[in-house]
Amino acid sequence: MRKKVSIVGAGNVGATCAHWIAAKELADVALIDVVEGVPQGKGLDLLEAMPIEKRDVAIVGANDYGATANSDVVVITAGIPRKPGMSRDDLLNTNFKIMSDVVSKVVAQSPESILIIVSNPLDAMAQAAYRQAGFNRERVIGMAGVLDSARFRTFIAEELKVSVENVTAFVLGGHGDTMVPLARYSTVAGIPITELIAPDRLEQIVQRTRDGGAEIVKYLKTGSAYYAPSAAVTEMVEAILKDKKKILPCASYLEGEYGINGYYIGVPCKLGAAGLEQIIEIKLTAEEDAALKKSAEAVKELCAVIGV
Ligand code: NAI
Ligand code: 2OP
Repeated sequence: MRKKVSIVGAGNVGATCAHWIAAKELADVALIDVVEGVPQGKGLDLLEAMPIEKRDVAIVGANDYGATANSDVVVITAGIPRKPGMSRDDLLNTNFKIMSDVVSKVVAQSPESILIIVSNPLDAMAQAAYRQAGFNRERVIGMAGVLDSARFRTFIAEELKVSVENVTAFVLGGHGDTMVPLARYSTVAGIPITELIAPDRLEQIVQRTRDGGAEIVKYLKTGSAYYAPSAAVTEMVEAILKDKKKILPCASYLEGEYGINGYYIGVPCKLGAAGLEQIIEIKLTAEEDAALKKSAEAVKELCAVIGV
């Protein structure tokens, strides 16, 4: 039997995510939105591309959560995105209300599903979803680190004029200004980038990575990035559906790992059929550890505002 992925929020990230998942023939897709006609229209349009793409997947769009019943994975992108001048944190109260509503409906239809949270501010929304769902932490995971690391990898590959395939990179911490790109653990064909890029230049690349979301918002003006974010979600979905045991930086609920307890923050995670299968604890320098803790404090402040 084919797997089923539901995507709540048929906007830029949600619809593009549906596109990647269908194009890779990973699962049947249910696309949900509050706006009438939008998920139905986008879903049907995408379905009609399948004969050309030679992919056998069912795609439905709906406003009713009945269409999401018995999903293996549910991706939640519902909410409002950033506009120029807004930080991700400015979305907090609006997206919290949306997240609470969406999660209760999703869980009622798919009590065994694994949730991937995308809406911003990401770490606080993942925490809100975790509290609302009542699932164990293995089944509520936030997407941010895969995107932030992909941005870092893009800039490193451009700088060194090497294939993106050669570049691995890790960005940990919260999905915000305090994110922690880990240059020491980032490599080109196994060579640490700290040996290939001068410290001043590396700092500029790190800063561009931190500002990666804002750079796109500045160009788009009416919304935020969606191609790379939806590709990042799809990598996580694929790792889960195919039980790949893939190590990816994801926002996970920490229970003492990295000295952080009771909050979502981006750390290296193993994703497989059970969802979050392991949190990998890597050694951090005192400076990196302090940056991660600072990032966790920022998440904690947002969680306090919405009481999760
Ligand atoms: P968008 O505005 O294109 O799409 C959001 C969709 O959510 C809209 O179609 C809207 O009608 C729908 N929606 C709103 N309330 C809803 C509800 N109660 N139930 C169902 N659907 C609802 O926005 P976009 O660009 O797709 O971004 C979505 C969210 O993802 C934003 O919060 C954005 O900041 C976040 N994001 C997070 C990233 C990450 O790395 N975690 C990366 C990119 C975006
Ligand atoms: C991004 O980083 C808006 O969080 C989104 O592009």
